[in-house]
Parts: sequence; C-alpha cells; structure tokens
Amino acid sequence: MKNGILILDFGSQYNQLIGRRIREMEVYSEIIPFHTPLETILAKKPVGIILSGGPSSVNSPQAHLVDKALFEAGIPILGICYGMQLTAHLLGGKVTKGAKGEYGKSEFEILRSSPLFTGISRRSTVWMSHFDEVEQVPEGFEISGRSGVIAAMANEKKNIFAIQFHPEVTHTAEGARMLENFVFQICKAKQNWKLSGYIERTIQDIKEKVGDHKVILGLSGGVDSSVAAVLIHKAIGNQLQCIFVDTGLLRLNEGRQVMENYGAHFNMNIDMVDASERFLSKLKGISDPEAKRKAIGNEFVAVFDEESKKFEGAQFLAQGTIYPDVIESQSVNGPSSVIKSHHNVGGLPEDMKLQLLEPLRELFKDEVRKVGEELGIPHHLVYRHPFPGPGLGIRILGEVDSEKVAILQKADAIFIEELYAHELYEKVSQAFVVLLPVKSVGVMGDERTYEYTAVVRSANTIDFMTATFSKLPWEFLELVSNRIINEVKGINRIAYDISSKPPATIEWE
Ligand code: XMP
Repeated sequence: MKNGILILDFGSQYNQLIGRRIREMEVYSEIIPFHTPLETILAKKPVGIILSGGPSSVNSPQAHLVDKALFEAGIPILGICYGMQLTAHLLGGKVTKGAKGEYGKSEFEILRSSPLFTGISRRSTVWMSHFDEVEQVPEGFEISGRSGVIAAMANEKKNIFAIQFHPEVTHTAEGARMLENFVFQICKAKQNWKLSGYIERTIQDIKEKVGDHKVILGLSGGVDSSVAAVLIHKAIGNQLQCIFVDTGLLRLNEGRQVMENYGAHFNMNIDMVDASERFLSKLKGISDPEAKRKAIGNEFVAVFDEESKKFEGAQFLAQGTIYPDVIESQSVNGPSSVIKSHHNVGGLPEDMKLQLLEPLRELFKDEVRKVGEELGIPHHLVYRHPFPGPGLGIRILGEVDSEKVAILQKADAIFIEELYAHELYEKVSQAFVVLLPVKSVGVMGDERTYEYTAVVRSANTIDFMTATFSKLPWEFLELVSNRIINEVKGINRIAYDISSKPPATIEWE
C-alpha cells in the first residue's frame, strides 16, 4: 500500500463507508482489523490512520485496544466515535458512561479552529451514535468542538484529531469536507487511486499470472461475477471458460439474457447448463428454508463440479469476490455477523486443485460497477439488484414446484418492469415478489376465484444489515397489483411488505 489511508476496524457498521468516501477522493484506503500487529500497520506505510467507531467500551475488560505506540509513530491519526474514546483513554484522558448517550442528529459547535475544520460552518448538524463520552481530554489535547458533550479534540502538534460523531454518513452535513481536510490537508495524501489505472494494472496481472493456462468461472449473471468475467476475458480472451448453471430458480428469461448479454455481446465462451429438473427434484417434499438452501447449495456444487470436469487442464477458478467479502471474512465481530455468509456460487471443487483468481478483491461494490461500465457492460446490468444464490427457491415459501416458479417469475417480472418504467428501480436497493402458500377468495368478472397470495417487497439499505421498506407511491403499488392480478393466472391478491430489518429480514425465508 502506497500513499494510502489505513482504517482500523473496531466493528462499526459504517467502516466500509469511510473506506469508500476516501476512495471517492481518489485516494487508496484499506480496512484492517484493529488487532493487526503494529509492525504490520507501520510496514504498510500509510499517510494517515483512521480509528473507526465500534460497539465496545474502553472501560470494559474486553475493550478493543491498540498499541499506544501507534500514537508515537508520527502518522496523522483521526479517531471517530469509539476511535475518539480510545484515543482519550490510551493517552491519559477520561471516558465515562454518559447519562443517556446520543443517537441521531446533534448540533455541533466548533470552539477552536483546526485544520480538520477548515471551511466548516461554526455550527452544523452531525450524526451521533454513542453511549460513552470523553469527560476529560488527555494532556496536550485541546477541546475543539462540542455538542451536548466534548465532540472534538485535537493535539495539533502530534497531528492527532478525534471527533465523537460520524463524518462518513450523509446526515453529518459537512462530514465529507472534514474527511477531505484530514486526507488532503493533514495527511497530504496524493490522488493515486484511479479505476482506469486499476483496470490496466489488473489486466496485466491476470495475463502474467495465468500465462497460457485455462480459467473457469461460475457466471451467475449478477454484477460481481459478470464484471470479473468481462475483465478476465479482456485479459486472456478464449482461455476463459464460463459456466452458467440455470437452476430453474432464476428470474424470468434470465438464462437467455445472460447468453445474449455476455455470450453474444462480449463473445465469451459460456457453457450453459439447464439443470432446472435436477434442482426441482431435489426440492420435492422440502419446505424448511434452511433445508431448501442446503439442497440447492449442494446441487449447485454437484452440477458445477461435473461441468468443470469437462474443461480439462483448467488451472484457475475465477470468482467475483469483492472487497466487502474480504473485509467481512476478517471482521472483528467474527464471520457470524456477516450477512453474506452464504456464497452465491458453490464451493471450489475440491479434487480439482484449482488456484483462485479474484480480480475484484480490492474493490467496493460501487467501484465494481464503475469498472463494469468502463469495460462496456450496459448500465442497467451493472446496477441490477442483488439476487440470492438459492433464487426463487427461498421466495416461494414452503414447497417449491414448477408451477409456482412460473407464477412467481411472471409476477416478479411485472414488478421489476414497472419499477424501471417509473424510474424507481435505482431508487430502491432490492425489490422482488414473494409467493405465499396461502390461497384466498377473490372475484374476477362474475366468477369466484381461489388463488395464491403474493407479496411485493422492496427495501432500501446501505449495507443489507439493516433496511427499511421502500415508501413506494400508492398509485404505483396499485398499478403493480392490478397488473399482476390481471396478467398472472394463479394470483388473486397482493400485499405490500411494510416491515423493516431488523426485526424482519429482506427475504422471507
Ligand atoms: P436478509 O433476508 O438476510 O438478506 O435480510 C440480506 C441480503 O442477503 C441476500 N440473501 C442471500 N444471498 N444466498 C445469497 O446468495 C442466500 O441464501 C441469501 N439469503 C439472503 C438477500 O437477497 C439480501 O440481499
């Protein structure tokens, strides 16, 4: 890592946002666990270090701490939220449990000018989320701002700054400017992170690593595997063999679209396997969600394994692993707190002894999308909503059969089509229809109907860990409901899911 900003991860859900904000400034950033040894941290030669927020309390016996020598290394430091409390605690200040904590918007007032606050209004709105607070700043520090509590402190001589609020979230009105001040004025970072440079460098790396060997890749049609495929194809052309497994649990016409978009348009070798019957027969008689996931996952590995054996001599298995997957797998909260513990693509066929090729490992999702667009993948494909590996298998509640799949595919396609038509698709994070195993009475023309109930679901989220339901306009929902009931035989009632996560989840199973 050269000329980058290092973010020490103490477990805040906003950490990835800090990393992304810095990359948006075209400065390289990396997120590593707080317990990374000091030598490793220093060996990375960061131009600045951010101590992130986190759920721990410095006064607890299990507090997440760092080596105090970090503050003596001559590298500018910015402590955010827990990072501020940690700075105060380790350098001799005092942190106490506040009376009630502060959650949400607060008014922040600058008390002393500071390079961190250049160009910032004297009073501004900030986003707080803390219980503990700094009661007394360490020697050598000045209080530079307040909200209800000491909200900013600095030791300018040592280039150590700390703020109690979160500058990385948009609710902190002038947070972006504060981060910029830290990165450019205090750390003097240079803009050296450009995606065009990344693409060229990665293509070169792939060529060198792969030589004239063959690479296989499980293409799902999702953003990550598709961008990885196009990038690798650009580097090694026909040495790349994609395998696309049609589980029969995909969205309407998905298989055909993948072949058109990637096979025909990019001229990639794609082996499309129609395994729908296999998957459906494995799902027969199973209605428990986790059992369905397991059945689908196992069958996926089996199919992928069989297919990949057809391509003898392959030395590499390419995957669309992205940076959040890497960060989450080393998360300080442990992998159990990870949302994406489930892999989109089945595991690595064990006896094949393939080496992994993961060209997107360093990129955040928004960067993957930009790379995709630069590589010529159409906008609507790189901005598609995520789709779970088990697909419609977990959106048809209870037992799955081909009739229900056909009904759900049609209903879902109508909802998505209307979201695009009303320019709402990119305003929501994930939208789909769920089919319930519940029949209700309706009336159509003069006839009584007795058909399935479907649920329209749309969620807005930054990180998929928490989410709110999308406040879609009534008229829009009415239109979607009318169209589905009129056009999809088998559904006579639509409900809209108005639950948030937590306590609900985005998917229904
Ligand atoms: P939940 O339902 O847990 O979903 O709020 C969070 C995100 O994860 C996706 N999801 C899955 N993805 N395999 C996947 O590849 C799965 O088994 C799975 N379950 C949930 C979900 O679509 C949402 O984006």
